[in-house]
Amino acid sequence: MRKKNRIVCGLDVGTTKICMMIARAHADGSLELLGTGYANSSGLKKGIVVDLEQAGASIKKAAEEAESAANISVERAFVGAAGDHFDSFNSHGAVTIEGNNQEVTAEDMAQVIQVAKSVSIAPDREIIHVLPQEFFLDDHGGILNPVGLTGSRLDVNIHVVTCESALNQNLINAVNRAHMRVEKVYLQQLASAEAVLTRDERELGTVVIDIGGGTTDIAVFMRDAVQFTSVLPVGGAHFTRDLAIGLQTSMEDAEHIKKEYGTVLTDRIAEDESTRVPGIGTHADHPVSRKLVCEILRARGMELLELVKEQVWRAKENERLIAGIVLTGGGSMLDGMWELTEEILEMPVRQGVPLGVQGLTHDLSHPVYATAIGLAKFAAEETGLSKKSPNKSGNSHWFFNRILSWVGN
Ligand SMILES: Nc1ncnc2c1ncn2[C@@H]1O[C@H](COP(=O)(O)OP(=O)(O)OP(=O)(O)O)[C@@H](O)[C@H]1O
Ligand SMILES: [Mg+2]
Repeated sequence: MRKKNRIVCGLDVGTTKICMMIARAHADGSLELLGTGYANSSGLKKGIVVDLEQAGASIKKAAEEAESAANISVERAFVGAAGDHFDSFNSHGAVTIEGNNQEVTAEDMAQVIQVAKSVSIAPDREIIHVLPQEFFLDDHGGILNPVGLTGSRLDVNIHVVTCESALNQNLINAVNRAHMRVEKVYLQQLASAEAVLTRDERELGTVVIDIGGGTTDIAVFMRDAVQFTSVLPVGGAHFTRDLAIGLQTSMEDAEHIKKEYGTVLTDRIAEDESTRVPGIGTHADHPVSRKLVCEILRARGMELLELVKEQVWRAKENERLIAGIVLTGGGSMLDGMWELTEEILEMPVRQGVPLGVQGLTHDLSHPVYATAIGLAKFAAEETGLSKKSPNKSGNSHWFFNRILSWVGN
């Protein structure tokens, strides 16, 4: 059957901003950005919908902007979500291969994954992702696609992501309010990773840390598979709130000061440097030492990165993550965050900006847009139009994603 071009849509419902990307997935596998919409979020806290009306209105605003830019109306979206109601664990399953010369079939593969994911989860939770990490045939590991291979016993390791059903439904309802259907919900950091990671990084071992407004989302990749995911309910907005309290100013002014004068590298700042801070209400503006501003930001940065470090230690056990850390999300733009991350996690750090999409302007090649672009890429893959064929090294990201679609629903 001849493949056609198709329109796909990624919708990042973040705590700070809603971002929608409409793209055309070309028959040759490439993705072309057609329109982007952006709106400040309201009705969300730490990744969770707390006001349906307001969240729906922000999504609608971003959607209308993207639709108008692309001159296309969109009915379905691939949606990115975060929040500490997500949880994850690794699991294992095994089946005996019977039948035709003990050749593994697609049904055997489905069955072994079914066995691995048959773990009891609380009745108020649901599985949103089942991510195969590695198959084993008669104890020989490193297999990404066992179909057609011969053996008597098939094992699989998988990573399972669950979420609280009611909170997930609230997100779906908010998108419905903007007159769109949710095709699938993705954990935000998986989408960000899709946009910013290279194939080598997935293979060699990398931690993606997406510092958003309300959450910091972590994903560890190794051997071309997701080994660990975690969501911390702390993000850039906490840095801003600390400043607003410490400087006795509004959140809006604190946000401005953070972006304009903030850094977590306090050593670089002279003792006598100061900046003026607007007072709250009728209070007059007043001078504050820039060192104080940056000490407040550094304290929060260190606390957040210590929490991240605990998670990364849980994930990597004795394995080395050779490719280090890729930092993305708007919170990673705070001056000095890379250096502080390197210092605390003792690993090399690079900044992750979205890659690999036609029509990405300079403005959109920014960590804030990583999730939305990754979602559009997933959308293109899930609609079967930008299938990446497994390469010679057996690195089959294409396959990984097809399974994601197949058993994840
Ligand atoms: N230049 C900058 N310097 C410092 N902080 C920045 C900068 N640009 C953006 N931020 C911060 O990034 C945060 C927003 O990041 P992002 O847009 O990735 O969040 P989000 O996706 O909406 O939230 P979440 O992922 O938590 O749901 C805000 O806290 C903002 O203050
Ligand atoms: Mg985000």
